[in-house]
Amino acid sequence: MPLNRCSILIFLIFTNTALVSSKSTIEPCSNSDSCNALLGYTLYTDLKVAEVASLFQIDPIALLTANAIDISYPDVENHILPSQLFLKIPITCSCIDGIRKSTSTKYKTRPSDTLTSIADSIFGGLVSADQIKEANSVQDPSVLDVGQSLVVPLPCTCFNGTDNGLPAIYLSYVVRPVDTLTGIAARYSTTITDLMNVNAMGTTAISAADIIAVPLPACASNFPRYASDFGLIVPNGSYAITASHCVQCSCGPGNLNLYCMPASLAVSCSSMQCRNSNLMVGNYTVQQGSGGCKVTYCNYDGLVNGTIWTTLSTSLQPRCPGGQQFPPLIAPPNTVSRDTTFAPAPAPQSDGTTPGTSVVPRTGSLPQLPPANGPAGSASGAASGASRLVNALVTSPTTFVLCLCASFIVSSLKF
Ligand SMILES: *[C@@H]1O[C@H](CO)[C@@H](O)[C@H](O)[C@H]1NC(C)=O
Ligand SMILES: *[C@@H]1O[C@H](CO)[C@@H](O)[C@H](O)[C@H]1NC(C)=O
Ligand SMILES: *[C@@H]1O[C@H](CO)[C@@H](O)[C@H](O)[C@H]1NC(C)=O
Ligand SMILES: *[C@@H]1O[C@H](CO)[C@@H](O)[C@H](O)[C@H]1NC(C)=O
Repeated sequence: MPLNRCSILIFLIFTNTALVSSKSTIEPCSNSDSCNALLGYTLYTDLKVAEVASLFQIDPIALLTANAIDISYPDVENHILPSQLFLKIPITCSCIDGIRKSTSTKYKTRPSDTLTSIADSIFGGLVSADQIKEANSVQDPSVLDVGQSLVVPLPCTCFNGTDNGLPAIYLSYVVRPVDTLTGIAARYSTTITDLMNVNAMGTTAISAADIIAVPLPACASNFPRYASDFGLIVPNGSYAITASHCVQCSCGPGNLNLYCMPASLAVSCSSMQCRNSNLMVGNYTVQQGSGGCKVTYCNYDGLVNGTIWTTLSTSLQPRCPGGQQFPPLIAPPNTVSRDTTFAPAPAPQSDGTTPGTSVVPRTGSLPQLPPANGPAGSASGAASGASRLVNALVTSPTTFVLCLCASFIVSSLKF
């Protein structure tokens, strides 16, 4: 399966200030499709779950499940998350003016905001003051009207939802002064080579405030294009709630097959039963025979016109499956761990207890897809030869003077 990847490491040079430069990975794009992506965001102050969600205009449930936080915790939306907590923010990544980005976030200015404080503090360095200025045609950044609504362009990449031919979702990560590429690779269970390929880097050098794309192994869905949750992709170790809060889909830890079942949120849902069977989404039956184990599985197949689509699939497997395993949930964090440098995000607050909550089902069933073929990163060596660093120079805050773009085949892999 050929994987086209073109990324540009872009150097921004602001001539109106002292020479400041920061790099960010840009993915050129041509069509109007979009994908799920994540932002690595560090809280600038204590904020309620609902406040963080509203800052990025996302569903609080999506924020919680993306971070494997237990949504059955009482009044979880009003739980106060501590300053400096690192969160993954799920966003939709679009193609705008030929570049992947998200522009669905609007920010209403408050007294004493400046473009710099909005960019560096409130949005954690995911955007620059200059990008906000440009996106909103702000003439004089020193005069911001209170209550003014500003579009906040945020960085994201899709790279076709794959990394080395395996499903992946991309996290836009703002490099901190303490970070090294080795540390980031270790933290996200990837390799330096893979990070360098993805970001078209020529060296392992990174600087604080650079924004790099980090591929996270994920479970991909296979919903039809006309499903409203087409393209759903869930990172390993987390959940997503879809189909108007009716279905929950989890990924990992044992394999990267998306596992969907009814969500136990108090909402009214259309039928989740597979046609011509008494199985519900996520249920399966097994029948041991001489040739192996016949597994009949009721899959969730997307939300179409407000209806939960299901398919019944039957496969013959060498062995009957054990119970479905689920990624562990954590309690809503109250404190930030001291050593966040290499700790998995969010800061480890896990109490290890999971089941018995409304999110975690007791037993489940077997994923229907064949397991993925090998560890991500195994093909990095092959891919590295084809990758090249491409730079784009910006000599004024607003204009790209030079943009050298190259697109190339990074790898040819088969599942
Ligand atoms: C994108 O990924 C899909 C599978 O997810 C694959 O079939 C397709 O060939 C890929 N396209 C490119 C351009 O790599
Ligand atoms: C998924 O996450 C689990 C637990 O964190 C880990 O053991 C497993 O290796 C991961 N799988 C992949 C393919 O990254
Ligand atoms: C089917 O799934 C539902 C919801 O997850 C569960 O309550 C039920 O026990 C399952 N039934 C069987 C036969 O596995
Ligand atoms: C969804 O509804 C519209 C209008 O109600 C209909 O034209 C379309 O065929 C439906 N799509 C599917 C996949 O059923």
